[in-house]
Amino acid sequence: MLLPTPCGPVSGQMHDLMVGRRSLSTATGPTTDQSVIEDLDQQLALWTAYELSYRGFDDVDPDLEWDLDVLALRAEIEARFERELRSATRDRTERVADDTPIGDELLDLVAGDEGPRLSAYLRRDATAEEMRDFLRERSIQQLKESDPQSFLLPRLEGAAKVALAEIQYDEYGAGRVEALHQTMYARTLEAVGLDPQYGAYVGEVSAVSLASANVMSLFALHHRLRGAGLGHFAAFEASSSVPSRRIAAGLERLEMGPDAAAYFHEHVEADSVHEQVAARDLCGSFLADHPSLRQDVLFGAACALHLEALSGTELMERWETGRREDQAS
Ligand SMILES: [Fe+2]
Ligand SMILES: [Fe+2]
Repeated sequence: MLLPTPCGPVSGQMHDLMVGRRSLSTATGPTTDQSVIEDLDQQLALWTAYELSYRGFDDVDPDLEWDLDVLALRAEIEARFERELRSATRDRTERVADDTPIGDELLDLVAGDEGPRLSAYLRRDATAEEMRDFLRERSIQQLKESDPQSFLLPRLEGAAKVALAEIQYDEYGAGRVEALHQTMYARTLEAVGLDPQYGAYVGEVSAVSLASANVMSLFALHHRLRGAGLGHFAAFEASSSVPSRRIAAGLERLEMGPDAAAYFHEHVEADSVHEQVAARDLCGSFLADHPSLRQDVLFGAACALHLEALSGTELMERWETGRREDQAS
C-alpha cells in the first residue's frame, strides 16, 4: 500500500513527516477547533500514523513508526480525539449502575442502545449501490479485523488473556487460512464488485469510518487505555450477531452471491459466542484483577456504540439525500 494523499493541513503535516519533508520544529500540529471524530483531515492523519504499526506503506521508511515527530503529532490528535470521545459518551456511561456484574452491564448497554436501524434497512430496503457503499465504508476496519485487539494480548494476564486468545483464534481462522475473517471480508468485497485490497478505500471513506478504526488503535496501543480497548471489543462483538444476520439476508435479497454473504453468516454464530466470552470472561476477569478500571471498560463500550450510531446515521442520511436528489432530477 502507498501512503494516502493528504486531504488538509493536518494530514498534510503527517504526510510531510512521512516523506521526510518536515522536522519537529516546523510541525505545529492541528490548529482547528473542529470535531476530531468528524474531521476527515485529522482522522486520515491519525490513521496514517497508526498504519506504521500495522502493515506500513511501501513508500515510507518503517523506522518512522517510532519517529518522535510522527509520535508528537499523533499524540496531539489522540489527546483531542480521546477528550471528544469522553464527552460524547458521558451520557451513556453515567446511566450505568455500579453494582451489576460487568458482563451483564455490557450486554444490557448494547441491548438498550437504540441505533439508527441501519442493518434493518440493509436487510429490507437498501439498493445494491447502498449496500456497496456500506461495505466500502466498513472495509477500513474489517480488513484489519481483530488486529488492533492483538496488541491487547501482552497487556493482559491469566483468565483475561486466555479469553481474548480464544476469540482471536476464531477471528484468525481457527487454523484455516480461508476462514481468516479479514480474508472473508475481502471475499465479500470482491463478490459485490469492490476492490478487496487492504487500504484500497482509505482515501474515499468518511471521517467516522476512519474514526471507527482509529479508536481501536488508540485503545490498543496505549497501556493506560487497555480497559477501554476491552470494553470496546466486548460491545463490538455484542453488536454484531443480529446485524450480521440482517446484512446476510440483505445481500441474498440483492442476489449478490453466496461469497458476499458468507462473512456475515459466519458472524451470526461466531459473535453470539464471542459476545459472551468478551463481556463475561474477558472483561469480567480483567476487572476482577483491576476493579478500578470499570469506568474505562464502560467508556470503551460506549465509544463503540457512539461511533456505530454516528456511522449508521451518516449512511442513512447520505442515502436519503441521494434519493431526494434523484426524485428532484
Ligand atoms: Fe470476526
Ligand atoms: Fe467476533
